[in-house]
Amino acid sequence: MIDPFIYGGKEASVPVTLVSSSSFNRFFNKLNDAQKHWLEQNHFTGKTGQLLAVPAVDGGIEKMVYGVCNLDNYYAIADLPARLPPGVYTLEGTGVKSRLESLAIGWGLGCYQFDRYKKCKAIEARLKLPNSSDHPRIHSMVAACSRARDLINTPAEDMMPQHLSAVVAELAQTYAGVYDEIVGDDLLSANYPSIYTVGRASINQPRLIELNWGDAGNPCVTLVGKGICFDSGGLDIKPAAGMRTMKKDMGGAAQVIGLAQLIMSLELPIRLRVLIPAAENAIAGNSYRPGDVIKTRSGVTVEIDNTDAEGRLVLCDALTEACESKPDLLIDYATLTGAARVAVGTEISAFFCNNRPLAEEVRTAGETVDDPTWELPLHKGYRSLLESHVADTVNSASTPFGGATTAALYLQNFVPDNIPWLHFDIMAWNNRKRAGRPIGGEAMGIRAVYEVLEKRYAAS
Ligand code: BES
Ligand code: ZN
Ligand code: ZN
Repeated sequence: MIDPFIYGGKEASVPVTLVSSSSFNRFFNKLNDAQKHWLEQNHFTGKTGQLLAVPAVDGGIEKMVYGVCNLDNYYAIADLPARLPPGVYTLEGTGVKSRLESLAIGWGLGCYQFDRYKKCKAIEARLKLPNSSDHPRIHSMVAACSRARDLINTPAEDMMPQHLSAVVAELAQTYAGVYDEIVGDDLLSANYPSIYTVGRASINQPRLIELNWGDAGNPCVTLVGKGICFDSGGLDIKPAAGMRTMKKDMGGAAQVIGLAQLIMSLELPIRLRVLIPAAENAIAGNSYRPGDVIKTRSGVTVEIDNTDAEGRLVLCDALTEACESKPDLLIDYATLTGAARVAVGTEISAFFCNNRPLAEEVRTAGETVDDPTWELPLHKGYRSLLESHVADTVNSASTPFGGATTAALYLQNFVPDNIPWLHFDIMAWNNRKRAGRPIGGEAMGIRAVYEVLEKRYAAS
Protein backbone atom coordinates (compact mmCIF):
# COMPACT_ATOMS: atom_id res chain seq x y z
CA MET A 1 0.00 0.00 0.00
CA ILE A 2 1.37 3.42 -0.94
CA ASP A 3 1.28 6.16 1.70
CA PRO A 4 -2.28 7.48 1.36
CA PHE A 5 -1.14 10.99 2.29
CA ILE A 6 1.08 13.79 1.11
CA TYR A 7 2.00 16.17 3.86
CA GLY A 8 2.06 19.80 2.67
CA GLY A 9 4.44 20.80 -0.12
CA LYS A 10 3.89 22.39 -3.49
CA GLU A 11 2.63 19.41 -5.47
CA ALA A 12 -0.38 20.26 -7.64
CA SER A 13 -3.65 18.75 -6.48
CA VAL A 14 -7.26 18.43 -7.59
CA PRO A 15 -9.75 19.80 -5.03
CA VAL A 16 -12.58 17.51 -3.97
CA THR A 17 -15.58 19.52 -2.81
CA LEU A 18 -17.66 17.64 -0.25
CA VAL A 19 -21.33 18.49 -0.54
CA SER A 20 -24.27 17.31 1.51
CA SER A 21 -27.91 17.54 0.53
CA SER A 22 -28.31 20.43 2.98
CA SER A 23 -25.27 22.41 1.76
CA PHE A 24 -25.99 21.68 -1.90
CA ASN A 25 -27.98 24.82 -2.70
CA ARG A 26 -25.37 27.15 -1.22
CA PHE A 27 -22.63 25.31 -3.11
CA PHE A 28 -24.57 25.29 -6.36
CA ASN A 29 -25.33 29.01 -6.30
CA LYS A 30 -21.64 29.86 -6.22
CA LEU A 31 -20.86 27.95 -9.44
CA ASN A 32 -20.57 29.61 -12.85
CA ASP A 33 -23.23 28.91 -15.47
CA ALA A 34 -21.23 26.27 -17.30
CA GLN A 35 -20.58 24.38 -14.10
CA LYS A 36 -24.24 24.61 -13.06
CA HIS A 37 -25.22 23.26 -16.42
CA TRP A 38 -22.72 20.41 -16.09
CA LEU A 39 -24.01 19.37 -12.69
CA GLU A 40 -27.61 19.49 -13.89
CA GLN A 41 -26.80 17.44 -16.97
CA ASN A 42 -25.17 14.83 -14.76
CA HIS A 43 -28.02 14.86 -12.21
CA PHE A 44 -25.64 15.76 -9.39
CA THR A 45 -27.73 16.67 -6.34
CA GLY A 46 -25.26 16.00 -3.53
CA LYS A 47 -26.80 12.63 -2.74
CA THR A 48 -24.53 10.48 -0.57
CA GLY A 49 -21.93 8.68 -2.65
CA GLN A 50 -22.44 10.71 -5.86
CA LEU A 51 -19.09 11.54 -7.44
CA LEU A 52 -18.62 13.85 -10.41
CA ALA A 53 -15.61 15.34 -12.17
CA VAL A 54 -16.08 18.98 -13.13
CA PRO A 55 -14.09 19.65 -16.32
CA ALA A 56 -11.70 22.60 -16.66
CA VAL A 57 -11.69 24.74 -19.81
CA ASP A 58 -8.42 23.10 -20.92
CA GLY A 59 -10.07 19.66 -20.86
CA GLY A 60 -8.52 18.58 -17.57
CA ILE A 61 -10.35 18.18 -14.27
CA GLU A 62 -11.01 21.38 -12.38
CA LYS A 63 -12.45 19.69 -9.33
CA MET A 64 -14.32 16.67 -8.14
CA VAL A 65 -17.59 16.95 -6.25
CA TYR A 66 -18.66 14.26 -3.83
CA GLY A 67 -21.93 13.81 -1.99
CA VAL A 68 -21.57 13.02 1.71
CA CYS A 69 -24.22 12.39 4.31
CA ASN A 70 -22.54 13.56 7.50
CA LEU A 71 -19.11 15.16 7.71
CA ASP A 72 -18.84 14.15 11.37
CA ASN A 73 -18.67 10.49 10.38
CA TYR A 74 -15.14 9.08 10.29
CA TYR A 75 -16.02 7.04 7.22
CA ALA A 76 -17.74 9.84 5.27
CA ILE A 77 -15.14 9.80 2.49
CA ALA A 78 -13.64 6.35 3.10
CA ASP A 79 -14.97 5.07 -0.25
CA LEU A 80 -13.33 7.90 -2.18
CA PRO A 81 -9.71 6.74 -2.59
CA ALA A 82 -10.79 3.55 -4.36
CA ARG A 83 -13.16 5.48 -6.65
CA LEU A 84 -10.95 8.40 -7.64
CA PRO A 85 -8.56 8.25 -10.60
CA PRO A 86 -4.82 8.24 -9.74
CA GLY A 87 -3.73 11.67 -8.55
CA VAL A 88 -3.24 14.03 -5.65
CA TYR A 89 -6.32 15.53 -4.02
CA THR A 90 -7.23 18.09 -1.39
CA LEU A 91 -10.51 18.39 0.49
CA GLU A 92 -12.74 21.48 0.57
CA GLY A 93 -16.33 22.40 1.37
CA THR A 94 -18.42 23.83 4.17
CA GLY A 95 -17.37 22.41 7.55
CA VAL A 96 -14.55 20.33 6.10
CA LYS A 97 -11.72 22.19 7.82
CA SER A 98 -12.86 21.37 11.33
CA ARG A 99 -13.31 17.69 10.47
CA LEU A 100 -10.20 17.25 8.36
CA GLU A 101 -8.43 14.95 10.81
CA SER A 102 -11.22 12.39 11.12
CA LEU A 103 -11.99 12.59 7.39
CA ALA A 104 -8.32 11.94 6.64
CA ILE A 105 -8.28 8.94 8.99
CA GLY A 106 -11.31 7.56 7.13
CA TRP A 107 -9.51 8.17 3.83
CA GLY A 108 -6.49 6.25 5.13
CA LEU A 109 -8.65 3.35 6.33
CA GLY A 110 -10.30 3.32 2.90
CA CYS A 111 -6.89 2.73 1.33
CA TYR A 112 -6.35 -0.46 3.35
CA GLN A 113 -5.80 -3.63 1.34
CA PHE A 114 -4.62 -7.03 2.51
CA ASP A 115 -2.25 -7.95 -0.28
CA ARG A 116 0.08 -10.46 1.37
CA TYR A 117 -1.25 -13.39 -0.67
CA LYS A 118 -2.96 -11.69 -3.61
CA LYS A 119 -2.19 -8.76 -5.85
CA CYS A 120 -4.83 -6.07 -5.36
CA LYS A 121 -5.85 -3.33 -7.74
CA ALA A 122 -3.68 -0.43 -6.65
CA ILE A 123 -5.34 2.57 -5.03
CA GLU A 124 -3.45 5.54 -6.43
CA ALA A 125 -5.38 8.51 -5.12
CA ARG A 126 -3.45 10.39 -2.45
CA LEU A 127 -4.72 13.01 -0.07
CA LYS A 128 -2.64 16.14 0.39
CA LEU A 129 -2.95 17.47 3.92
CA PRO A 130 -2.24 21.08 4.87
CA ASN A 131 0.84 21.86 6.96
CA SER A 132 -1.46 22.80 9.81
CA SER A 133 -2.90 19.29 10.23
CA ASP A 134 -1.62 16.84 12.82
CA HIS A 135 0.22 14.51 10.45
CA PRO A 136 1.70 12.12 13.03
CA ARG A 137 -1.69 11.59 14.61
CA ILE A 138 -3.46 10.87 11.31
CA HIS A 139 -0.68 8.58 10.14
CA SER A 140 -0.46 6.71 13.46
CA MET A 141 -4.22 6.15 13.73
CA VAL A 142 -4.37 4.64 10.27
CA ALA A 143 -1.21 2.59 10.86
CA ALA A 144 -2.52 1.21 14.18
CA CYS A 145 -5.86 0.13 12.73
CA SER A 146 -4.18 -1.30 9.62
CA ARG A 147 -1.75 -3.21 11.82
CA ALA A 148 -4.61 -4.83 13.74
CA ARG A 149 -6.33 -5.74 10.46
CA ASP A 150 -3.17 -7.25 8.99
CA LEU A 151 -2.51 -9.39 12.05
CA ILE A 152 -6.06 -10.73 12.07
CA ASN A 153 -6.21 -11.33 8.32
CA THR A 154 -3.01 -13.33 8.28
CA PRO A 155 -3.81 -17.07 8.25
CA ALA A 156 -3.18 -18.99 11.46
CA GLU A 157 -0.34 -20.93 9.85
CA ASP A 158 1.56 -17.65 9.50
CA MET A 159 0.31 -16.00 12.70
CA MET A 160 1.07 -18.46 15.46
CA PRO A 161 2.29 -17.46 18.97
CA GLN A 162 5.89 -17.19 17.72
CA HIS A 163 4.78 -14.79 14.98
CA LEU A 164 2.85 -12.59 17.43
CA SER A 165 5.93 -12.62 19.58
CA ALA A 166 8.15 -11.47 16.70
CA VAL A 167 5.77 -8.59 16.00
CA VAL A 168 5.89 -7.43 19.62
CA ALA A 169 9.68 -7.80 19.72
CA GLU A 170 9.98 -5.63 16.63
CA LEU A 171 7.65 -3.00 18.09
CA ALA A 172 9.73 -2.93 21.27
CA GLN A 173 12.83 -2.36 19.19
CA THR A 174 11.27 0.45 17.17
CA TYR A 175 10.03 2.38 20.19
CA ALA A 176 12.77 1.52 22.70
CA GLY A 177 10.50 -0.68 24.80
CA VAL A 178 11.49 -3.79 26.72
CA TYR A 179 10.28 -7.09 25.36
CA ASP A 180 10.12 -10.40 27.18
CA GLU A 181 8.43 -13.76 26.79
CA ILE A 182 7.92 -17.04 28.60
CA VAL A 183 7.62 -20.03 26.26
CA GLY A 184 6.30 -23.59 26.47
CA ASP A 185 7.31 -25.63 29.55
CA ASP A 186 8.73 -22.49 31.17
CA LEU A 187 5.12 -21.35 31.56
CA LEU A 188 4.67 -24.15 34.08
CA SER A 189 7.77 -23.35 36.10
CA ALA A 190 6.89 -19.64 36.05
CA ASN A 191 3.34 -20.51 37.19
CA TYR A 192 1.09 -19.77 34.22
CA PRO A 193 -0.68 -23.15 34.26
CA SER A 194 -3.79 -22.23 32.31
CA ILE A 195 -1.91 -20.62 29.41
CA TYR A 196 0.25 -23.73 29.23
CA THR A 197 -2.67 -26.15 29.45
CA VAL A 198 -4.70 -24.54 26.67
CA GLY A 199 -1.67 -24.41 24.36
CA ARG A 200 0.09 -27.67 25.10
CA ALA A 201 -1.50 -29.73 22.31
CA SER A 202 -0.13 -27.50 19.56
CA ILE A 203 3.20 -27.93 17.80
CA ASN A 204 3.43 -24.14 18.12
CA GLN A 205 4.38 -23.55 21.74
CA PRO A 206 2.21 -21.29 23.88
CA ARG A 207 3.72 -18.09 25.25
CA LEU A 208 3.17 -15.15 27.48
CA ILE A 209 4.46 -12.17 25.53
CA GLU A 210 5.26 -8.95 27.38
CA LEU A 211 6.20 -5.41 26.40
CA ASN A 212 7.03 -2.54 28.76
CA TRP A 213 7.44 1.03 27.63
CA GLY A 214 7.52 4.56 29.05
CA ASP A 215 8.70 6.31 32.18
CA ALA A 216 8.21 4.41 35.40
CA GLY A 217 6.88 7.59 37.04
CA ASN A 218 3.91 7.87 34.67
CA PRO A 219 0.49 6.33 35.33
CA CYS A 220 0.57 2.62 34.52
CA VAL A 221 -1.84 1.28 31.90
CA THR A 222 -1.79 -2.46 31.29
CA LEU A 223 -3.26 -3.96 28.12
CA VAL A 224 -4.05 -7.67 27.91
CA GLY A 225 -5.08 -9.33 24.63
CA LYS A 226 -6.46 -12.80 23.96
CA GLY A 227 -4.01 -14.38 21.56
CA ILE A 228 -5.62 -17.65 20.53
CA CYS A 229 -3.98 -18.05 17.14
CA PHE A 230 -6.48 -20.66 16.07
CA ASP A 231 -9.50 -21.88 18.00
CA SER A 232 -10.54 -25.36 16.86
CA GLY A 233 -12.59 -25.62 20.05
CA GLY A 234 -10.23 -28.31 21.35
CA LEU A 235 -11.83 -31.69 22.18
CA ASP A 236 -15.18 -29.86 22.28
CA ILE A 237 -14.53 -29.28 18.61
CA LYS A 238 -16.31 -26.51 16.77
CA PRO A 239 -18.56 -27.30 13.80
CA ALA A 240 -17.07 -26.32 10.42
CA ALA A 241 -18.99 -23.05 10.07
CA GLY A 242 -17.97 -21.88 13.53
CA MET A 243 -14.34 -22.80 12.98
CA ARG A 244 -14.05 -21.15 9.59
CA THR A 245 -13.00 -17.69 10.82
CA MET A 246 -11.13 -18.76 13.94
CA LYS A 247 -7.81 -17.43 12.68
CA LYS A 248 -9.24 -14.20 14.07
CA ASP A 249 -9.26 -15.54 17.63
CA MET A 250 -6.08 -13.57 18.29
CA GLY A 251 -8.13 -10.45 17.49
CA GLY A 252 -7.80 -9.23 21.08
CA ALA A 253 -4.02 -9.45 20.85
CA ALA A 254 -4.20 -7.61 17.52
CA GLN A 255 -6.11 -4.70 19.11
CA VAL A 256 -3.62 -4.52 21.94
CA ILE A 257 -0.66 -4.49 19.54
CA GLY A 258 -2.30 -1.80 17.38
CA LEU A 259 -3.15 0.31 20.43
CA ALA A 260 0.34 -0.11 21.90
CA GLN A 261 1.84 1.00 18.59
CA LEU A 262 -0.42 4.06 18.62
CA ILE A 263 0.45 4.96 22.21
CA MET A 264 4.17 4.59 21.63
CA SER A 265 4.28 6.36 18.28
CA LEU A 266 2.39 9.35 19.67
CA GLU A 267 4.42 9.22 22.89
CA LEU A 268 1.48 9.31 25.26
CA PRO A 269 2.92 10.01 28.71
CA ILE A 270 1.97 6.74 30.38
CA ARG A 271 3.80 3.69 31.58
CA LEU A 272 2.57 0.99 29.20
CA ARG A 273 2.56 -2.71 29.91
CA VAL A 274 1.32 -5.21 27.34
CA LEU A 275 0.59 -8.85 28.14
CA ILE A 276 -0.41 -11.31 25.43
CA PRO A 277 -1.16 -14.88 26.39
CA ALA A 278 -0.74 -16.62 23.02
CA ALA A 279 -1.67 -20.21 22.26
CA GLU A 280 -3.29 -22.43 19.69
CA ASN A 281 -6.36 -24.31 20.94
CA ALA A 282 -5.49 -27.51 19.07
CA ILE A 283 -6.48 -31.16 19.22
CA ALA A 284 -3.94 -33.89 19.95
CA GLY A 285 -3.37 -36.78 22.34
CA ASN A 286 -2.26 -34.33 24.99
CA SER A 287 -5.18 -31.92 24.66
CA TYR A 288 -6.79 -30.79 27.90
CA ARG A 289 -10.17 -32.36 28.50
CA PRO A 290 -13.64 -31.57 29.80
CA GLY A 291 -13.63 -32.45 33.50
CA ASP A 292 -9.94 -31.64 34.02
CA VAL A 293 -9.13 -29.19 36.80
CA ILE A 294 -6.49 -26.48 36.43
CA LYS A 295 -5.00 -24.67 39.39
CA THR A 296 -4.58 -21.20 37.89
CA ARG A 297 -1.84 -18.70 38.70
CA SER A 298 -4.06 -17.00 41.26
CA GLY A 299 -4.63 -20.28 43.12
CA VAL A 300 -8.27 -20.45 42.02
CA THR A 301 -9.06 -23.94 40.71
CA VAL A 302 -11.06 -24.23 37.49
CA GLU A 303 -12.97 -27.24 36.31
CA ILE A 304 -13.05 -27.43 32.52
CA ASP A 305 -16.67 -27.63 31.46
CA ASN A 306 -15.89 -26.87 27.83
CA THR A 307 -12.52 -26.77 26.08
CA ASP A 308 -13.94 -24.20 23.66
CA ALA A 309 -14.11 -21.66 26.49
CA GLU A 310 -10.32 -21.37 26.26
CA GLY A 311 -9.99 -17.61 25.94
CA ARG A 312 -10.95 -16.93 29.54
CA LEU A 313 -8.41 -19.54 30.64
CA VAL A 314 -5.42 -17.93 28.97
CA LEU A 315 -6.70 -14.53 30.05
CA CYS A 316 -7.13 -15.39 33.74
CA ASP A 317 -3.42 -16.10 34.25
CA ALA A 318 -2.49 -12.95 32.32
CA LEU A 319 -4.96 -10.85 34.35
CA THR A 320 -3.54 -12.23 37.59
CA GLU A 321 -0.06 -11.31 36.41
CA ALA A 322 -1.29 -7.86 35.34
CA CYS A 323 -2.85 -7.16 38.74
CA GLU A 324 0.27 -8.18 40.64
CA SER A 325 1.84 -4.87 39.60
CA LYS A 326 -1.33 -2.89 40.52
CA PRO A 327 -1.85 -0.88 37.32
CA ASP A 328 -3.79 2.39 37.39
CA LEU A 329 -5.90 1.04 34.55
CA LEU A 330 -6.34 -2.50 33.23
CA ILE A 331 -7.87 -3.13 29.82
CA ASP A 332 -8.35 -6.45 28.09
CA TYR A 333 -9.58 -7.21 24.59
CA ALA A 334 -10.84 -10.63 23.56
CA THR A 335 -12.88 -12.38 20.90
CA LEU A 336 -14.38 -14.12 23.89
CA THR A 337 -17.96 -15.18 23.24
CA GLY A 338 -20.46 -15.74 20.48
CA ALA A 339 -23.03 -14.54 23.02
CA ALA A 340 -21.67 -10.97 22.88
CA ARG A 341 -22.34 -11.01 19.13
CA VAL A 342 -25.90 -12.15 19.73
CA ALA A 343 -26.32 -9.30 22.23
CA VAL A 344 -24.92 -6.35 20.27
CA GLY A 345 -24.25 -7.75 16.81
CA THR A 346 -20.88 -7.96 15.12
CA GLU A 347 -20.26 -4.24 14.57
CA ILE A 348 -20.39 -2.94 18.14
CA SER A 349 -17.73 -3.66 20.76
CA ALA A 350 -19.38 -5.03 23.88
CA PHE A 351 -17.62 -4.01 27.06
CA PHE A 352 -17.79 -4.65 30.79
CA CYS A 353 -16.36 -2.38 33.45
CA ASN A 354 -16.00 -2.40 37.24
CA ASN A 355 -15.69 1.39 37.43
CA ARG A 356 -18.59 3.78 36.62
CA PRO A 357 -16.61 6.87 35.52
CA LEU A 358 -14.42 4.75 33.23
CA ALA A 359 -17.44 3.07 31.64
CA GLU A 360 -18.97 6.47 30.91
CA GLU A 361 -15.72 7.72 29.38
CA VAL A 362 -15.56 4.69 27.09
CA ARG A 363 -19.13 5.14 25.95
CA THR A 364 -18.75 8.80 25.02
CA ALA A 365 -15.30 8.30 23.49
CA GLY A 366 -16.65 5.53 21.25
CA GLU A 367 -19.39 7.85 20.00
CA THR A 368 -16.94 10.70 19.39
CA VAL A 369 -14.56 8.67 17.28
CA ASP A 370 -17.05 6.39 15.48
CA ASP A 371 -15.82 3.29 17.23
CA PRO A 372 -19.14 2.12 18.66
CA THR A 373 -19.27 0.40 22.05
CA TRP A 374 -22.01 -0.82 24.35
CA GLU A 375 -21.79 -1.77 27.98
CA LEU A 376 -23.13 -5.11 29.22
CA PRO A 377 -23.70 -5.88 32.90
CA LEU A 378 -21.35 -7.63 35.33
CA HIS A 379 -24.49 -8.94 37.03
CA LYS A 380 -23.45 -10.52 40.34
CA GLY A 381 -26.61 -12.62 40.45
CA TYR A 382 -25.25 -14.81 37.65
CA ARG A 383 -22.09 -15.73 39.55
CA SER A 384 -23.71 -18.90 40.84
CA LEU A 385 -23.96 -20.15 37.24
CA LEU A 386 -20.19 -20.71 37.42
CA GLU A 387 -20.24 -23.01 40.47
CA SER A 388 -18.43 -26.33 40.19
CA HIS A 389 -18.89 -29.51 42.24
CA VAL A 390 -15.16 -30.22 42.30
CA ALA A 391 -13.36 -26.88 41.92
CA ASP A 392 -13.71 -23.19 42.81
CA THR A 393 -15.35 -22.43 39.47
CA VAL A 394 -16.12 -23.89 36.05
CA ASN A 395 -14.80 -22.20 32.92
CA SER A 396 -18.18 -22.15 31.22
CA ALA A 397 -21.61 -21.56 32.71
CA SER A 398 -24.32 -24.17 32.92
CA THR A 399 -26.52 -22.16 30.54
CA PRO A 400 -25.72 -20.29 27.32
CA PHE A 401 -28.03 -17.41 28.32
CA GLY A 402 -26.06 -14.32 29.28
CA GLY A 403 -22.92 -16.00 27.96
CA ALA A 404 -20.95 -12.77 27.56
CA THR A 405 -21.78 -11.77 31.14
CA THR A 406 -20.88 -15.14 32.64
CA ALA A 407 -17.55 -15.08 30.74
CA ALA A 408 -16.86 -11.57 32.08
CA LEU A 409 -17.83 -12.66 35.60
CA TYR A 410 -15.36 -15.51 35.31
CA LEU A 411 -12.61 -13.01 34.42
CA GLN A 412 -13.66 -10.71 37.25
CA ASN A 413 -12.62 -13.44 39.73
CA PHE A 414 -9.04 -12.54 38.82
CA VAL A 415 -9.27 -8.74 39.11
CA PRO A 416 -9.46 -7.02 42.52
CA ASP A 417 -12.26 -4.45 42.77
CA ASN A 418 -9.82 -1.61 43.44
CA ILE A 419 -8.21 -1.90 40.00
CA PRO A 420 -10.24 -0.03 37.35
CA TRP A 421 -10.83 -2.71 34.74
CA LEU A 422 -12.32 -2.61 31.28
CA HIS A 423 -13.04 -5.82 29.38
CA PHE A 424 -13.88 -5.79 25.67
CA ASP A 425 -15.65 -8.74 24.08
CA ILE A 426 -15.27 -8.06 20.37
CA MET A 427 -15.83 -9.56 16.94
CA ALA A 428 -12.60 -8.15 15.42
CA TRP A 429 -14.02 -8.96 12.02
CA ASN A 430 -16.22 -7.36 9.36
CA ASN A 431 -18.79 -9.85 8.09
CA ARG A 432 -19.89 -7.36 5.46
CA LYS A 433 -18.26 -4.57 3.50
CA ARG A 434 -18.92 -0.97 4.50
CA ALA A 435 -17.18 2.29 3.56
CA GLY A 436 -13.54 1.98 4.65
CA ARG A 437 -14.23 -1.38 6.27
CA PRO A 438 -13.57 -4.31 3.94
CA ILE A 439 -14.64 -7.85 4.85
CA GLY A 440 -12.06 -9.36 7.21
CA GLY A 441 -10.07 -8.36 10.27
CA GLU A 442 -11.09 -5.12 11.95
CA ALA A 443 -9.78 -2.74 14.58
CA MET A 444 -12.44 -2.50 17.28
CA GLY A 445 -12.04 -0.40 20.40
CA ILE A 446 -8.62 1.02 19.52
CA ARG A 447 -9.72 4.56 18.71
CA ALA A 448 -12.25 4.64 21.55
CA VAL A 449 -9.69 3.64 24.17
CA TYR A 450 -7.01 5.93 22.76
CA GLU A 451 -9.48 8.80 23.10
CA VAL A 452 -10.07 7.85 26.75
CA LEU A 453 -6.35 7.58 27.47
CA GLU A 454 -5.59 10.86 25.75
CA LYS A 455 -8.31 12.67 27.70
CA ARG A 456 -6.98 11.21 30.94
CA TYR A 457 -3.26 11.39 30.47
CA ALA A 458 -2.12 13.61 27.57
CA ALA A 459 -0.25 16.71 28.62
CA SER A 460 -2.52 19.64 27.75
N1 BES B 1 -13.46 -17.63 20.15
C1 BES B 1 -14.72 -18.07 20.63
C2 BES B 1 -15.77 -16.99 20.67
C3 BES B 1 -16.22 -16.35 19.39
C4 BES B 1 -16.89 -17.09 18.43
C5 BES B 1 -16.06 -14.99 19.24
C6 BES B 1 -17.32 -16.44 17.28
C7 BES B 1 -16.49 -14.36 18.10
C8 BES B 1 -17.13 -15.09 17.12
C9 BES B 1 -14.59 -18.61 22.05
O1 BES B 1 -13.39 -19.20 22.38
C10 BES B 1 -15.66 -19.64 22.19
O2 BES B 1 -15.60 -20.62 21.52
N2 BES B 1 -16.61 -19.37 23.07
C11 BES B 1 -17.69 -20.23 23.30
C12 BES B 1 -17.90 -20.30 24.79
C13 BES B 1 -18.82 -21.40 25.23
C14 BES B 1 -18.18 -22.75 25.00
C15 BES B 1 -19.11 -21.21 26.69
C16 BES B 1 -18.93 -19.65 22.63
O3 BES B 1 -19.09 -18.43 22.61
O4 BES B 1 -19.71 -20.43 22.09
ZN1 ZN C 1 -13.29 -21.30 21.93
ZN1 ZN D 1 -11.71 -18.56 21.35
